[in-house]
Amino acid sequence: MMYWAILLFCNFVKVLCVPHPIVGGRTAQPNTYGYQASLRYATEAIEFHFCGGSIISDKCILTAAHCYEVLTKPNRELSRVHVYVGTIYAKKSPNDKGDMYGVESFKKHEQFNRTSLINDLAVVTTDKPIRFNFRVWPIKLATIRPPDGSFITVTGWGYIKNGVKVIPRKLQVINLKMMSLTDCMALNPLDPSCPLEKVTETNICIVGNVGQSTCQGDSGGPAAYNGELVGAISFGADQCGDGKPSVMTCVIDYIEWIRNQTEMH
Ligand SMILES: *[C@@H]1O[C@H](CO)[C@@H](O)[C@H](O)[C@H]1NC(C)=O
Ligand SMILES: *[C@@H]1O[C@H](CO)[C@@H](O)[C@H](O)[C@H]1NC(C)=O
Repeated sequence: MMYWAILLFCNFVKVLCVPHPIVGGRTAQPNTYGYQASLRYATEAIEFHFCGGSIISDKCILTAAHCYEVLTKPNRELSRVHVYVGTIYAKKSPNDKGDMYGVESFKKHEQFNRTSLINDLAVVTTDKPIRFNFRVWPIKLATIRPPDGSFITVTGWGYIKNGVKVIPRKLQVINLKMMSLTDCMALNPLDPSCPLEKVTETNICIVGNVGQSTCQGDSGGPAAYNGELVGAISFGADQCGDGKPSVMTCVIDYIEWIRNQTEMH
């Protein structure tokens, strides 16, 4: 599977059939993407970033369902998943630690299919309300599907170079162009080694020049347009930055499911 979470950790960060961090982007300015969250897992020895997310209310983070895989390894516990907000750093840094929250629940979409990656959406709820300030704020859910050709802003701590499993120290940002769904679906499967992983009507595809894309570690993170959250980073081609589109779960197609989750908290 070529999806974009960082799922395993032993001395180095390892990924399943890859997806995306951001390749070919630039370092984000602090206090600019205050809706960005970092989902981290704390082992006895180390805490590692495995997925991105978007703050959509004072208790809810929207992410990708496949990010839940971090909990399917032996001895993994929900109590060791942490949500970090208010920082551009992927790891605690002496001058900028960010705010940490524990996790109350990690709810995957009921119809998520880990083979096809359809319905790749989840809501993580924090153990206490997230404090909003000049560094931390929620993003509005999409009211439209962005028009083809419009620029979508994606942010994340995914790998910045294809094949190099190192996450960046600071948050990366890139603007990619909305591709028509028909054109994108015609490229199925994006990753021939994962032929069952398909772009469908509930996805958004965004594309840049060769050398620009999301990559592993970006999964779950925000795709924003006009100040609205239009997508959650889902998957991509086998090689980051190979000129193929990056695929997001389309937020507007799941608006009722998302509202149902946030209303419960
Ligand atoms: C998940 O997707 C695969 C590939 O399309 C399909 O073969 C399988 O039946 C699906 N599983 C469910 C539970 O729908
Ligand atoms: C949202 O919740 C309502 C009321 O419980 C339910 O009828 C509806 O099916 C839910 N919709 C989704 C998409 O989960």
